[in-house]
Amino acid sequence: MPAEGAMHVDGGVQLTRIHRAFGPVTALADLSLSVAPREVVAVVGPSGCGKSTLLEIVCGLQQPDAGTCATEPAVLMPQRDSLLPWLNAIDNAALARRVAGDNRETARAKARPLFEHFGLEGFEGSRLHELSGGMRQRVAFLRTLLSGKPVLCLDEPFGALDAITRSEMQAWLSGALAEEPRTVLLVTHDVEEACVLADRVCVMSPRPGRIVAEVEVWLDRPRTATDAELVALRQRALEALR
Ligand SMILES: Nc1ncnc2c1ncn2[C@@H]1O[C@H](COP(=O)(O)OP(=O)(O)OP(=O)(O)O)[C@@H](O)[C@H]1O
Ligand SMILES: [Mg+2]
Repeated sequence: MPAEGAMHVDGGVQLTRIHRAFGPVTALADLSLSVAPREVVAVVGPSGCGKSTLLEIVCGLQQPDAGTCATEPAVLMPQRDSLLPWLNAIDNAALARRVAGDNRETARAKARPLFEHFGLEGFEGSRLHELSGGMRQRVAFLRTLLSGKPVLCLDEPFGALDAITRSEMQAWLSGALAEEPRTVLLVTHDVEEACVLADRVCVMSPRPGRIVAEVEVWLDRPRTATDAELVALRQRALEALR
């Protein structure tokens, strides 16, 4: 079901003239953005410009003060690791199904094939501290997928990872989305990551945030960060950021 207050649309996400303030701090002002069904849109912008606020509005966790958000049901993979340390890996992933009303065994049964599929086989019963950072991110991503919602809002999904793991995870996400396309809003501060993963890169202004530029990334996948055309697109996005 769409979040309370959000209008339902048949495909994708449509944000129109969104305004959101916290007391004297205006986070978002006159922000409009649309994401087509199965389009991957990256949002880049300076720290504090309202990126997380934007994703929370799309997922119905916050209401805008003005403007409209029309979206298919959307799920958030939050910026901070939200896995529960007292649950093992599979129960963390299966939590999305428990929340949706499945009993424990049904929820685990739905999570198990994804563990195999995403290279986590054998780690179902592991505690979180026994997993690498990249594996934990994959568990968190599986939980997001298992919600079954068509729109994925990913807030700095690889922010806490070292450069090598990060690029491995980018390749992994790219492959996962190629196999099972979803509508994705990806927040990242890494313009290169945005260009490697997204169909379109939206650049936000400093707070109060709004979209000030868009760069279409029309390159075939899989993409390499060092590809000359990708480097040129990255440069365009960086210039818009400055
Ligand atoms: N619940 C809140 N109460 C008060 N102020 C808030 C709240 N949530 C966000 N803000 C403020 O709104 C602005 C935007 O915050 P937000 O977290 O959306 O930025 P961001 O772009 O995600 O930043 P970062 O890149 O550091 O993650 C910031 O100035 C922040 O302090
Ligand atoms: Mg944020």
